[in-house]
Amino acid sequence: MKWLWTTPDLVAALNGRPIGNLPQGVTGISIDSRNIAPGEAFFAIKGDRVDGHDFASFAVANGAALLVVSEGKLPALGRLVTPMIVVPDVLQALVDLGCAARDRTAARIIAVTGSVGKTTTKEMLRQALGPSGSVHASVASFNNHWGVPLTLARMPETTDYGVFEIGMNHPGEIRPLVAMVRPHVAMVTTIAPAHLGNFRDLEEIAAAKAEIFEGVVPGGHALLNRDNEQFAFLEKAAEAAGVSHVHSFGADAKAEFRLLDFIPSAEGGLLRAAVGGQTLEVPMGAPGRHIAENAVAVLGAVHLAGGDIEKAMAGLATMQAEKGRGRRYRLAKGGGWFTLIDESYNANPASMRAAIALLRDAEPHGRGRRIAVLGDMLEMGEHSPLVHAGLAEPLLEAGIGDVWLGGPDMAALRDVLPEGVATEYRDTADALAAHALDAVQPGDVLVVKSSKGTGFSRIVAALLDKYPTFPEREREL
Ligand SMILES: Nc1ncnc2c1ncn2[C@@H]1O[C@H](COP(=O)(O)OP(=O)(O)O)[C@@H](O)[C@H]1O
Ligand SMILES: [Mg+2]
Repeated sequence: MKWLWTTPDLVAALNGRPIGNLPQGVTGISIDSRNIAPGEAFFAIKGDRVDGHDFASFAVANGAALLVVSEGKLPALGRLVTPMIVVPDVLQALVDLGCAARDRTAARIIAVTGSVGKTTTKEMLRQALGPSGSVHASVASFNNHWGVPLTLARMPETTDYGVFEIGMNHPGEIRPLVAMVRPHVAMVTTIAPAHLGNFRDLEEIAAAKAEIFEGVVPGGHALLNRDNEQFAFLEKAAEAAGVSHVHSFGADAKAEFRLLDFIPSAEGGLLRAAVGGQTLEVPMGAPGRHIAENAVAVLGAVHLAGGDIEKAMAGLATMQAEKGRGRRYRLAKGGGWFTLIDESYNANPASMRAAIALLRDAEPHGRGRRIAVLGDMLEMGEHSPLVHAGLAEPLLEAGIGDVWLGGPDMAALRDVLPEGVATEYRDTADALAAHALDAVQPGDVLVVKSSKGTGFSRIVAALLDKYPTFPEREREL
């Protein structure tokens, strides 16, 4: 069908007041005037920073077929002749449309929450389910009060599998989101100290994540990480919420979807897993034990959602690490090359440890070093000095000899690293970038990891800018 939404269905779902000569339907839903495609409906919501009503004319210039605007803002939009649907509240209208999308589809719905690995797992599910049917999944980390309804509203009626990332910074945020998504399978990747500033302890974080169980459809499934210390708590919570089937994944002997073995390699690795009574050998397209752990959860979810496991394995074999989440580059310097692992998208203690493990398993060549380029983990509140200093242990265990640190919170780690570790410290990401550009040598492997707000992606950008990709032809060697 040509339309994502026909106009009658759209008007009915929004319970809005149409103005002007409406088109027969819209081809998509957008809340961003910069990247709206012609034929889409523009919902003028108030986003994180700006109010969409201020950008309605840009949306029109970029081809918006109709605007969804609020009654209160209508006078200010007087000059626009684009057809509109006027509603009391645009965000609520987006939620209503999302719920209508959920009501009209027969898709199997999977919801993913957790402290780390949501986006990675969501993208892995997209890859794994793709060969089994049409997949609709969240864009990027669209996991909040506007991202979730937007993703729902964009779901075509004929979708076979819907994959939704659901996030939170505070208790109470997941509950209304999962009520819209109503998953058949609700997965919690792991519970770890993230946004710890907003919570007293891990159990409080687990309790907030457990809200996801409240939205599971009758007869549905919860899928939990048996290796995580909050497993028992989450299992109880899922049962208390009335989830019909509670499943587990992990390396634990009692895990239903079980990671039997993982042999890492620089390019990915080989995972052995037990899923649905079968032992599977799964070649992984992206490296890292944490990716393999996610893969076991993904295979479990595919199994529970009725997808094809063989095809899912093929999907995992061809996956590429996401930008900022483990993507690798071979960059030319001095007649040779070094490896850059871009983990700059985000960081908390769990994903820092995963990145350190990636570095441990990577293979420098010649006289190359393993270099951890680490920046501040934000939102750690009063726990910050402790969690930063706490990275010394995994670094030493992994035998990382070179540690380049940037940002005020990383001073706590600098202060506890022993003399045997070649440590460089700079106040800012940009100062550290200057050092990195200069000090990196052929043969090195660098992992760049930090919270997003620290600007460590500029270190990655600077390296990519200065050093060209090592020729593909020679990479084959
Ligand atoms: N299971 C996991 N355990 C630890 N770290 C992980 C896991 N899965 C992914 N990561 C790492 O954590 C970081 C954030 O991953 P992402 O998938 O964006 O998480 P989220 O969407 O939950 O914020 C990335 O660097 C990623 O490589
Ligand atoms: Mg995310």
